[in-house]
Amino acid sequence: MNVTIVGTGYVGLVTGACLAELGNNVFCLDVDQAKIGLLNAGGMPIHEPGLQEIIQRNVEEGRLTFSTDAAASVAFADLHFIAVGTPPDEDGSADLKYVLAAARQIGRHMEGFKVIVDKSTVPVGTAEKVAAVVREELAQRRRDDIAFSVASNPEFLKEGAAIDDFMRPDRIVLGVEDDERGERALAMLRELYRPFNRNHERTRVMDVRSAEFTKYAANAMLATRISFMNELANLADRVGADIELVRQGIGSDPRIGYSFLYAGTGYGGSCFPKDVDALCRTAQEHGLPLQVLDAVQRVNHAQKQVLLEKVWHQFGKRLAGRTFAVWGLAFKPGTDDMREAPSRSIIRALLQAGARVRAHDPVAQEQAARALALDLQDQPQLLANVTFVAKPMDAVADADALVVLTEWKNYKSPNLRALREAMRSPLVLDGRNLYEPHAMAAAGITYMGIGRSNLALLAPAQRVQPEVRVVSDPVPADEVAAES
Ligand code: UDX
Repeated sequence: MNVTIVGTGYVGLVTGACLAELGNNVFCLDVDQAKIGLLNAGGMPIHEPGLQEIIQRNVEEGRLTFSTDAAASVAFADLHFIAVGTPPDEDGSADLKYVLAAARQIGRHMEGFKVIVDKSTVPVGTAEKVAAVVREELAQRRRDDIAFSVASNPEFLKEGAAIDDFMRPDRIVLGVEDDERGERALAMLRELYRPFNRNHERTRVMDVRSAEFTKYAANAMLATRISFMNELANLADRVGADIELVRQGIGSDPRIGYSFLYAGTGYGGSCFPKDVDALCRTAQEHGLPLQVLDAVQRVNHAQKQVLLEKVWHQFGKRLAGRTFAVWGLAFKPGTDDMREAPSRSIIRALLQAGARVRAHDPVAQEQAARALALDLQDQPQLLANVTFVAKPMDAVADADALVVLTEWKNYKSPNLRALREAMRSPLVLDGRNLYEPHAMAAAGITYMGIGRSNLALLAPAQRVQPEVRVVSDPVPADEVAAES
């Protein structure tokens, strides 16, 4: 099939490349000349494992084209995916200006039936707005005779695993209109996604609004799990429990499951913070604030401070003369994305307190330098106190503490003896719970994770003593059965 993708950001590029890999002819359109120039020269605007190879192969084999020519992109295909950005506007709602501009362009150039598919994450009701602007353009051209249908096909790609997520989807959500045009749209989309449904039907067909809502609901549910685990982790620190053991204990219940239960420094990235915020706004606009999700956001903001609180506890709030090693800058492994990365606020706070920071990340250093320059626009002199180093161990030499912020594989098994000997004071603040507290203690390293029973942080009076229940007689069998 011929397919046009509008927008060569993360979602557009992965979708375009993977659809070409499946044998379709794909035209990728973007207004950014520099980006299209880079892609045509074999360069990559983002870091995503495996993507460059797929793009290269499909460009060479003539199935994938990058261009800024809007008219040509509309003539190329009957199926158009809109995959442009939906940044938050001032009040946190999703800003639809790029989505609607893309729709307008299609309306301006189309000469026959088109299916316009919203792939970007857009609030419920956006498909109707897209249809309205296309109708407006057609009316202006006096071409109301041309039919079209707007569908919703949200993406569920994870950065760093996007190719695999696209090629082996858990589900393909298709929202289509309940009319003859919607039927035509559905037939085309089913044909496009046929390769994924050979052994097992993965398509979920629904109305457009439910499809739009599904994307937000999925991200909100996942973000809720994370904030809930983070809150439990903070309590685990107080009561002297280890959240990692608790995670394993609850994850074995299939109703809970193991995924997305890792406590850490708070969720980041381009999706969760933005989508959770946008859903909260939508709920407020409809007079039904989502109380749980509002709390999820508050907990996440606070979680970005938890490691810092451990730093203040250990060193006080003045860090002049101290050096902090940081391992990991990207918001998660497998990407160089620094959007909403916890490392940004943590490094900024350390610098503002007078510390020096020596940071390592296998791929995100360049992006991190840019992000920090932006975050410290008002205090650019502090940037002189951050250096980026080539190897993780280069960061720890003479450091007062090592702060681990991204769970890259190469940080998982450091030589603990070398670590202890390299540091001025052997202290590891582990924002990703990569290490075993016992192994750290055995190596002579002071260890603080997230929810790993940091009793040392508490004044003795605050420590909760475990309640010991002395059972002198065996508990009757019916009482045991009654406990659940
Ligand atoms: C997410 C969704 O997973 C994906 O389906 C959607 O299409 C886009 O948003 P992504 O932002 O790439 O994908 O990252 P993800 O792997 O989901 O992680 C999001 C954030 O949650 C990261 O900051 C990560 O560190 C954090 N996280 C994840 C945790 O803190 N604990 C966990 O257990 C899992």
